[in-house]
Formats: sequence, structure tokens, C-alpha cells
Amino acid sequence: MSEKQGTPLISQLLATWIEGESSQSYAVTNYANAAAILFQNMSVLNWVGFYLFDDVNNVMSLGPFLGKPAVALISPDNGVVGKAFSSQQTIVVEDVHQFPGHIVCDTDSNSEIVIPITTTDGRQIGVLDIDSPELNRFSRQDQADLEDFVRTLLPYITA
Ligand code: SME
Repeated sequence: MSEKQGTPLISQLLATWIEGESSQSYAVTNYANAAAILFQNMSVLNWVGFYLFDDVNNVMSLGPFLGKPAVALISPDNGVVGKAFSSQQTIVVEDVHQFPGHIVCDTDSNSEIVIPITTTDGRQIGVLDIDSPELNRFSRQDQADLEDFVRTLLPYITA
């Protein structure tokens, strides 16, 4: 992805789309278009979506996504999703088959990145989860760009 004025192109695309659609206060709408923007603009992906934290039941539930139907509920201790959420750290998995506790949703997936979504005042919203059929698909630059993408999305899912 190329950059303009320090902001990754994919983040600019997201903000421009949401502002253009005047959907700033519609969280589900913005999650859905965010998943579609990633799926359309990043190469070699087979699944893009969100898991959202339910603090009443202490579970992550499947949110808007593109790809094959996926596991609906994940405990914050389980899988790459749960581990990224509970550690509040992005996890890049070069080979999902080597990751202890990885939860298989699509047998085509070989690598994965999961990015926590947390407000600046510490409210833990959930994660962005992306799978690829290619081993070691996600670079450090992708990680930085996707973390910026999540920061760009935040005001549009918490408004
Ligand atoms: N692989 C994830 C589960 C979700 S699917 O990739 C969509 C995990 O291990 O948490």
C-alpha cells in the first residue's frame, strides 16, 4: 500500500467512503463496509471480519465479515482472536498450523493477523481478524497499516 501524507491509503479510503456515505453514526454499517474495503483492496485474502466483545457474557461474537461462515462465539482465552484480545496486542501468525490453539474456520487459511480494537480511553471493543491462504502473508508494513485502519475506524463504530 502506498502512503499519502503519512496516512495509509487503505485508511484514507475507509474515511472517505464513510464520510461520503454520511454513515458516521451507524456502527454495523461501518463495520460491514470496513470489511469489504479490506477484502477488495488487499491481495490474497480469504476471510476478513470482526469479533466483538460482549462483557456481560465474557465472549467474543462474530460481527460483520466476508468469507465462509465462521465460528460464532470465541472465549477471550481461545484462538488467535481471544489471545490478541486478552493480551491487547496484534498477533501475526505466519503459519496457523503451528499456532497452539488456533481455531479453524476455513481450511484454506494458512496465515492470519488479529488486531485488537480498543478506544483511547481503554474500552475493549473487539478485534479485526484477517486470514490468508498464503503462508506468511502479513508483513510488518501490513501490520502498521492495519493498526492505523483500526484507529481510523474507531470513531465510526463508537459514535
Ligand atoms: N482463526 C481464528 C478463528 C476465527 S476464523 O479465522 C474466522 C482463531 O484462531 O481465533
